[in-house]
Amino acid sequence: MRVLFIGDIIGKPGRVALKKLLPEIIGQQDIDFVIANGENSAGGFGINRDIASSFFSYGVDVITGGNHFWDRRDIYPALEEFKNIIRPANYPPSVQGKGSGVFESKSGKKVGVLNLQGRVFMTPIDCPFRIADREVAELRRKTNVVIVDFHAEATSEKQAMGYYLDGKVGAVIGTHTHVQSADEQILPNKTGFITDAGMTGPYHSVIGMEYSASIARFLTGTPVKFKVAEKDIKLSGVIMELDHRDGSCLSIERIKIDLKD
Ligand SMILES: [Fe+2]
Ligand SMILES: [Fe+2]
Repeated sequence: MRVLFIGDIIGKPGRVALKKLLPEIIGQQDIDFVIANGENSAGGFGINRDIASSFFSYGVDVITGGNHFWDRRDIYPALEEFKNIIRPANYPPSVQGKGSGVFESKSGKKVGVLNLQGRVFMTPIDCPFRIADREVAELRRKTNVVIVDFHAEATSEKQAMGYYLDGKVGAVIGTHTHVQSADEQILPNKTGFITDAGMTGPYHSVIGMEYSASIARFLTGTPVKFKVAEKDIKLSGVIMELDHRDGSCLSIERIKIDLKD
């Protein structure tokens, strides 16, 4: 089965790219299941109910989160309404929402999706490796096809997670840095891997934000308000072919598609 994973969607430019490009990609690439990281889709910070709902109408099957997932409070009640919005599973047990689930693909196949968050240069939440053990075992009871969105800053932590879960899941896809890495590969035990899927949004920017504000922050060390950039919009991610019987990854390919005017 062919699965599309879309990297962090940034503000309105990212949403427009998704709306215009996703139906085309699904048709042309025969995509059966779509996962999209939505943590930056509302003004660059967080996601809200209406945006999540629109993503599902464009063809997204599951929305994953990350450290910015919590920035808009109106997503909290929507977690009850939409079971196919998940957030990193290794937040402490009292935190709202779920970190994994089994969902149905467009052709009716069962796909497990797990969202985890790294701890290096990030908020030190629960151990993503130990939580992965628990969650993957639970998902594998229901389906052999499991895909992990590992939302993390450090390349080392992401690579370690890839090898840790090699042979246990179909793919470990990195998100959060917003810069697509050129290391997509199939690990020795048939797990697809990429350090970062990249971002869907404006590339004439510093990770999606107007570069002037970012430079000012670095120059002054003081807070400067970020604004989502507008130019050079692209959709980034990976397309994977997974064997739906045993869940192994047969191919993984990077995509980065321009939004033409
Ligand atoms: Fe992000
Ligand atoms: Fe993030």
